[in-house]
Amino acid sequence: MTGYQGPERVFSGIQPSGGMHLGNYLGAIRKFVDLQTQHECLYCVVDMHAITVWQDPKSLRDQTFHIAAAYLAAGVDPAKATVFHQSAVPAHAELAWIFSCVARLGWLDRMTQFKDKAGKDKERASVGLYTYPVLMAADILVYKATHVPVGEDQKQHLELSRDIVGRFNREFDAPDFFPLPEPLIKGPGARVMSLRDGTAKMSKSDASEQATIYLIDDADTIAKKIKKAKTDPEPLPSEPKGLESRPEAANLVGIYAALSSKSDEDVLREFGGEGFGKFKPALADLVVEKIAPIGAEMRRLQADPGHLRQVLVAGAERASALAEKTVRDVKEIVGFVV
Ligand code: AMP
Ligand code: TRP
Repeated sequence: MTGYQGPERVFSGIQPSGGMHLGNYLGAIRKFVDLQTQHECLYCVVDMHAITVWQDPKSLRDQTFHIAAAYLAAGVDPAKATVFHQSAVPAHAELAWIFSCVARLGWLDRMTQFKDKAGKDKERASVGLYTYPVLMAADILVYKATHVPVGEDQKQHLELSRDIVGRFNREFDAPDFFPLPEPLIKGPGARVMSLRDGTAKMSKSDASEQATIYLIDDADTIAKKIKKAKTDPEPLPSEPKGLESRPEAANLVGIYAALSSKSDEDVLREFGGEGFGKFKPALADLVVEKIAPIGAEMRRLQADPGHLRQVLVAGAERASALAEKTVRDVKEIVGFVV
């Protein structure tokens, strides 16, 4: 496939398109924090991805600071990891163009996220929304990143990145040039579901505020949302098998397990046979204990956007140095005059 011999490197990104929530934390940001001690990491606020659907320019900048604040509040340390915003490093867009000439229409046609986001009226979706996975591949590969921590929903996009690498390395006879990026998806919290519907993922854009626990929610709000979360009338089973076909119960147990670093088995050993009247308050206490301090720190950081801007700009400078080198090499490989 690829004979890439370079160093291991971690890249991931989150779009500044809405409030950061528990799914983002468990599926992505928490992994970012764990990875930074052992690996070279780049964590990006992907503002160019966000504008594939309409973003009010008046709030986009604040949203960008919001994601940066979430990274830092959760424990990403800009002295260890490079934290920056995508639009500050033009090499992403340059490589994306070249990759858009490598990727095939048929590959993009298969992307389920485009179908979900474009809805019925795909004629009216932006061209950027369609080619979004190509930009994502460029984000990762402009740093020759080898590992990409993301939630379950990004798996298909990562596969497309791998297809692009395969074709690029083969067509340009550069078998060692790009690594095949590995998704880091597994683990509890890879797919946190809505509190109102255990079959829909928790998302920034749910119509009901009650469906999503935002990192910025205060303790009271978190407790209320968990109290109101949809459940069924049965008590909790004593084994994970008993959660099958009980998506809401499975989700709440999964959240408890992920936040307490236990397995579903352990949680059910403790709470099996109990009703939600007992389990929900325990879950609310745990979520408040883990999430409320992050929210408080986010509020503190967001009150000083000047500092966040400095962090992002300094990160972008470091990122640019790596990215420009890759683009220079790619131009050479493709046959552009450099
Ligand atoms: P997004 O909010 O779609 O920009 O996603 C940012 C990151 O959070 C990506 O790595 C997603 O895979 C992850 N993520 C988003 N929603 C969830 C969820 N409900 N459960 C787990 N991970 C999620
Ligand atoms: N597509 C990702 C999402 O919607 C965000 C993203 C953009 C990303 N570029 C990336 C994630 C590169 C990982 C690596 O969540």
